[in-house]
Amino acid sequence: MALKRTKIVDIFSPELIGEQVCVKGWVRTRRGNKHVQFVALNDGSTIKNLQIVIDLEKFGEDELKPITTGSSLHVEGTLVASQGKGQTVEVQAQSIEIYGTADPDEYPLQKKGHTLEFLREKAHLRMRTNTFGAVFRIRHHLAFAIHKFFNDKGFFYMHTPLITASDCEGAGDMFQVTTLNLGDLPKNEDGSNDYTKDFFGKPTSLTVSGQLEGELGATSLGAIYTFGPTFRAENSNTPRHLAEFWMIEPEVAFNDITDNMDLAEEFIKYCVQYALDHCKDDIEFLNQMYDNTLIDRLQGVLKQEFVRLSYTEGIKILEESGKKFEFPVKWGVDLQSEHERYLVEQHFKRPVILTDYPREIKAFYMKQNDDGKTVRAMDVLFPQIGEIIGGSEREENYDKLISEIERRGIPMKDMWWYLETRKFGTVPHAGFGLGFERLILFVTGMANIRDVIPFPRTPNNAEF
Ligand code: 4AD
Ligand code: MG
Repeated sequence: MALKRTKIVDIFSPELIGEQVCVKGWVRTRRGNKHVQFVALNDGSTIKNLQIVIDLEKFGEDELKPITTGSSLHVEGTLVASQGKGQTVEVQAQSIEIYGTADPDEYPLQKKGHTLEFLREKAHLRMRTNTFGAVFRIRHHLAFAIHKFFNDKGFFYMHTPLITASDCEGAGDMFQVTTLNLGDLPKNEDGSNDYTKDFFGKPTSLTVSGQLEGELGATSLGAIYTFGPTFRAENSNTPRHLAEFWMIEPEVAFNDITDNMDLAEEFIKYCVQYALDHCKDDIEFLNQMYDNTLIDRLQGVLKQEFVRLSYTEGIKILEESGKKFEFPVKWGVDLQSEHERYLVEQHFKRPVILTDYPREIKAFYMKQNDDGKTVRAMDVLFPQIGEIIGGSEREENYDKLISEIERRGIPMKDMWWYLETRKFGTVPHAGFGLGFERLILFVTGMANIRDVIPFPRTPNNAEF
């Protein structure tokens, strides 16, 4: 009977020593001498490589020739305790089958030490490197942690549509969705496009957020969360923006802004703790390779309570800081990441939740404060990242919401279904959105958001 394959992540257990094992994977390196060759094999299940020892008395030179970096192997042999440095066990090969070769003159990852920029151009292969293997294993565990957190709290996972007919968020330019022939658009008499001929009979786009539908869920099921891709066609070429990113949006009936802040803080801490508990090897690798303050920073966030502060107080601190910012600060401006990071990294030295922003720089649905100038918004600001979460208590008063929609000139007819939540059994409620890739940036310590999603979508970049 054929020997069953063991994943490399499972092979380092002492019970297997002395056993016959079958392993499969890709060659990371090969070295050795005339008597013995050592192959480092990796199968993606862990950052650890498994050493394969090849006795040249048992294998011919020619047979081994195609075993170069990047080639793929099926190896059977005996698992033994290793005398060598850097590993506890190794496999003494008895049979080797080569699945696929990787010509050293062509294989892009033949050499070690490529820059992250170079690897971005090789996104189809970069998951085979230590760095990206680590990042994408962590990404998986964080996604799982998020579902576990909300499931354990009794939230329902809600799927909101990706194609939408409303741009209610005003979050940025939207990608249009159409089946019309762009080279020959049907026209109305006044020269405008005739969208009645389009697939949905009206203009549609990819969604920038699942929140508005999420509110329909929360005001029915009580507590929901969404976790899906969102799309923003804003032309911001920064290390923190993607045109396609994943967002988690919990929405809870009867929560006020304090409950919302409590939930956000507990949620992020849970995710960070989960990653420390389940991704130890990968985080240690990243800590050692890129940023030896990473683990301290993660543990720091767990230990400290987040500062809670109003936007107005935050502006005061920034104004009194005496620091020259690229974008000057005064009450009413939207905060830039340099301002957010000053508050977090220099002033408070811990995460900050900023609340009660000026109404004019926030979305129409946020609950209006009595001062007439601010809304019950909250942004969670993080070291290295800046804004990681944006949310608010929602305006539940029908008349106030209508007058805000009118004041902003938002087309009311697109909003009728949303307004009915305030018309029939309206309740106080609150929610927020966590940018999944920004969380992964924080947990991995990577500096560019393009390096924490397998195939980033940014202006002029949709190759893979
Ligand atoms: O602050 P935003 O725009 O909030 C919303 O979309 C609300 N509907 C959320 C809610 O209350 N349910 O986006 C939320 C988060 C930001 O804090 C940021 O972490 C992330 O989404 N984000 C982006 N991440 C990557 N690339 C982009 N272009 C992003 N824009 C926002
Ligand atoms: Mg925001």
